[in-house]
Amino acid sequence: MTTTPEPVGSVWPGLTDQDHSHAYVDRFRQMAARGQDLHGEARLVDALAPRGARLLDAGCGPGRHGGYLAAAGHDVVGVDVDPILIDAARADHPGATWLVSDLSRLDLPALGEPEPFDGAMVVGNVMDFVTPEAQPRVIERLGAHLRPDGFLVVGCRTVRGFTPADLDAALPGAGLVLEQRFATYDLRPWTDDATFCVSVLRAR
Ligand SMILES: C[S@@+](CC[C@H](N)C(=O)[O-])C[C@H]1O[C@@H](n2cnc3c(N)ncnc32)[C@H](O)[C@@H]1O
Repeated sequence: MTTTPEPVGSVWPGLTDQDHSHAYVDRFRQMAARGQDLHGEARLVDALAPRGARLLDAGCGPGRHGGYLAAAGHDVVGVDVDPILIDAARADHPGATWLVSDLSRLDLPALGEPEPFDGAMVVGNVMDFVTPEAQPRVIERLGAHLRPDGFLVVGCRTVRGFTPADLDAALPGAGLVLEQRFATYDLRPWTDDATFCVSVLRAR
């Protein structure tokens, strides 16, 4: 029988289970080795960013987005709560800075990264792994790390977990406004029956 785990703190129990984390790293390394396109999300962020931008990859996992953006010449900080995934990001993408932290308590100046960001991304269903009560805090923490006029890209599903409605409710408390909304990372138009949502938010 499967049961829904009770949320504890800001992450679901078992999220950082070591076997699962190592399997996740292996899965993405194998997809990269097969030449699979793993960079659609990062290409969108690259298009939004000035050259040589300072970018935050929030819930970075093993670093596929931040690694791509660092290779494109950006100054990237990636953050994830799972130390195994951060170890893999450091090994595979040494051109970026990778830090272990819970996004709901994110304080990068306290971790030696005082400069605000030109842009940030939280994609790959990261927000579904954050407990509902902590989700607004994550959006607020990401907004707090942006410079004025900086952007945040949020990817989420529309019918389960963290939805566009949850995102919209969190925006006023985060000092962010919705600038654009799409149905895919290659910018297909947003429709009310879309199954995925890509939001571009702007810091006021
Ligand atoms: C499905 S993975 C996506 C990883 C990466 N964004 C990608 O698209 O490849 C979700 C990630 O969110 C991270 N995560 C979940 N809750 C978090 C939290 N509260 N703080 C930091 N990272 C978190 C997990 O550890 C995991 O690496």
